[in-house]
Amino acid sequence: MAERRWWREGVLYQIYPRSFADSNGDGIGDLCGVIDRLDHLEWLGIDGIWLSPIHPSPNEDWGYDVSDYLGVHPELGTLDDVDELVAEAGRRGIRVLLDLVPNHTSDRHPWFRERPELYVWADAPPNNWRSVFDRRPSWTLDGERGRYYLHTFAGGQPDLDWRNPEVPAEFERILRFWLDRGVAGFRLDVVNVLYKDSELRDEPPARPEDPPLLRELGMRRIHSMNQPEIHDLLQDWRRLCEEYEPPRILVGEVYAFQVPHWASYYGNGDDQLHLSFNFQLMYNPLVAAKLSAVVAEVEHELPAGAWPCWAGSNHDGGRLASRWARGDERLSRCGLMILLGLRGTPFLYYGDELGLLDGEVPPDRRLDRAEPGRDAGRTPMPWSRAGDWRDPWLPLVDTSRNVADQRVDADSTLHFTRELIALRRRLPDLRVGSYRELESPEDVWAWRRGEGCVVAVNLGVEEARLEVEGRIELSTDPERGGESFAGHLAAGEGVILAGDPSK
Ligand code: GLC
Ligand code: CA
Repeated sequence: MAERRWWREGVLYQIYPRSFADSNGDGIGDLCGVIDRLDHLEWLGIDGIWLSPIHPSPNEDWGYDVSDYLGVHPELGTLDDVDELVAEAGRRGIRVLLDLVPNHTSDRHPWFRERPELYVWADAPPNNWRSVFDRRPSWTLDGERGRYYLHTFAGGQPDLDWRNPEVPAEFERILRFWLDRGVAGFRLDVVNVLYKDSELRDEPPARPEDPPLLRELGMRRIHSMNQPEIHDLLQDWRRLCEEYEPPRILVGEVYAFQVPHWASYYGNGDDQLHLSFNFQLMYNPLVAAKLSAVVAEVEHELPAGAWPCWAGSNHDGGRLASRWARGDERLSRCGLMILLGLRGTPFLYYGDELGLLDGEVPPDRRLDRAEPGRDAGRTPMPWSRAGDWRDPWLPLVDTSRNVADQRVDADSTLHFTRELIALRRRLPDLRVGSYRELESPEDVWAWRRGEGCVVAVNLGVEEARLEVEGRIELSTDPERGGESFAGHLAAGEGVILAGDPSK
């Protein structure tokens, strides 16, 4: 795999540091824990990790409220640990991406008191905008200043004023600080929200055809996101990334609601984001017609030269094995096959490789303040049946799906995921080939990658027929594989076929 294209051809893995691995037994996952478990990621075939925020934070939003962008949260480790992680991961061919939160800081970041001009203020709430966490007004009176500040998220996350040139100047220093330490790039938190309408105009009311999130909020997001100025900033950051050798990458979190808006964050295909998360796939049910329609639209809207990326789980939306598959192991494997079989870079969320379900978090253990709570998708990684955690920060109840047991079971979802990743390495078509949907029965979604590879998943409850040929390289059913495909897909079965069908 060419060094410069690693982020297009490789598989990335999201780590929620507090829940991945705890090296010192205080119940909180940490950077040394990640270092200890790099062998697992190498064995799985991962090319890069994205760490959710590691910086000091009062944890009103568990790290997404940063109080020092140049430091490491003492519960997670030290700067030296970051350096060691980058070096140890690098030794295994694994790159490290950090999570940068540029839209807002914590209200306990020193800037909030010492440099209030870096934030968005008004003498009285100037518009009807509401916080996406609790649907309450996104303007809060600061007692000390007697003025209102804007917060798109929680009250403890004041929005920065990106129209003040000192803000981009500060962030350029922050980017360089980490890139100089050898970090491979950043995942950019809610990057489409940084700039707001210069006149802070009211949002229009939501319409019945708008997505659920907007309907719940009661408003559209015309003036509070997707402003044109963001594209200049992304061009600047892209140039900055390309000053480095090898070039660093930008992965944007883009909640743009409409695919054309989302696609615009790729600029002309190679001058803004390298990869842009879209959430249309994740937030649609595991229904062939719905998911294939999302992919068709993404494929259609993507500028030439741009490369998609896909996720089925994350720390906000919970786990695909619960949301898509409702615990049905076959469907979880279909979900994984979709992620790793589409054209684009797959992002696995820690535990996806096990088919891990959302955890059980009783109300008295709830930590997340957003509505609805997101704790269930953030519970600790079960490394063994015993769990390998002492009093973890979030409960670990069900350890039936765990790394140690699945590692010794060749038919496990863990081995299935590893084989999927290995297959991508072995079959260039599966890695870089074009996407073309094939005609198929209603509950089946089938597509060709390049010339020589077919991915087909039967998401229905009945067996189905599919008229394609090829050798079964991998099936969600561990009993199948190696033989030529006879057109039969069991309910909940997915297959990857290879071989020129005309021969
Ligand atoms: C992003 C993060 C989410 C966080 C929010 C505010 O959506 O993924 O976890 O709460 O931004 O930073
Ligand atoms: Ca710890």
